Amino acid sequence: MRFKDQVAVITGTSSGNGRAIALALAGEGALVVCSDLVKQARPGGYETDIETDTDDLIKQQGGQAIFIKADASKAADIEQLVQQAVAHFGRLDIMVNNAGIFTALKTIVDETEEEYDLTMNVNAKGVWLGCKYAITQMLKQTPRADGCRGRIVNISSIGGLVGLAQEPSYCASKGAVNNLTRQLAVDFAAERININAICPGFLATAMVRPALENPEIKAALDALTPWPRIGTAQDVAKAVAFMASDDAQWMTGSLLTVDGAFTAR
Ligand SMILES: NC(=O)c1ccc[n+]([C@@H]2O[C@H](COP(=O)([O-])OP(=O)(O)OC[C@H]3O[C@@H](n4cnc5c(N)ncnc54)[C@H](O)[C@@H]3O)[C@@H](O)[C@H]2O)c1
Repeated sequence: MRFKDQVAVITGTSSGNGRAIALALAGEGALVVCSDLVKQARPGGYETDIETDTDDLIKQQGGQAIFIKADASKAADIEQLVQQAVAHFGRLDIMVNNAGIFTALKTIVDETEEEYDLTMNVNAKGVWLGCKYAITQMLKQTPRADGCRGRIVNISSIGGLVGLAQEPSYCASKGAVNNLTRQLAVDFAAERININAICPGFLATAMVRPALENPEIKAALDALTPWPRIGTAQDVAKAVAFMASDDAQWMTGSLLTVDGAFTAR
């Protein structure tokens, strides 16, 4: 029970990684604030229990959770998300900025300005907002006995480390997440706020399902991933749990790949 009575806010919890992260932290005792554009668990991924919303599933499993609707790209939504979480559970120990989108595979020649703006707003500005309001709260609250004021985990991508074919805005947005993570780690290390990012490779979630169902693209992704399977949301959730835990006390500003060695060669 690494997170007993610690309060965790997670964005994008109605599907994929966000749902797996919420369940993993709740399973280790965290009081979880689920957040997304919609409360309903989203079909289209690989979950087998999708008829139950994430916060309800946590409660069914004996944990504590609430849902707060918030658009990760809107400042007012994220400010009130943090405020309502604190009003309900008393403080904020863990913020996981997970909500993200991918529009479509195309080169910059065909990608539209609207697709760029949308991707940057959700993936890059959304993480900036999540960090801004989480850090503001963490600086206000009494530190825990070990001095820790809070931990932030940003869900980035290998697309923030290397160029992925036909993903210009997505890669730009995740590159922004990675260097924001490093920058914030420098500013808030003295306050003992850990700010790290996880860079997953290709995972079986709703976001990537269209690609995985295309035999040619699936074969290409398999060939690019040395480990003999594609990743899962649970692979990411386990890494988040580590980065949010006391075991990662001296880790900050790190970009942790969880990618089956995609970027290792
Ligand atoms: N699936 C992959 O292969 C992969 C790889 C690397 C990184 N990631 C990252 O993981 C994160 C989660 O993706 P996923 O694979 O679970 O996808 P997903 O589509 O299954 O889930 C994304 C969730 O985010 C929510 N969301 C979208 N826009 C939002 C907004 N503006 N405000 C609040 N919530 C919003 C969606 O409703 C959905 O529930 C994203 O940041 C994504 O870039 C995914």
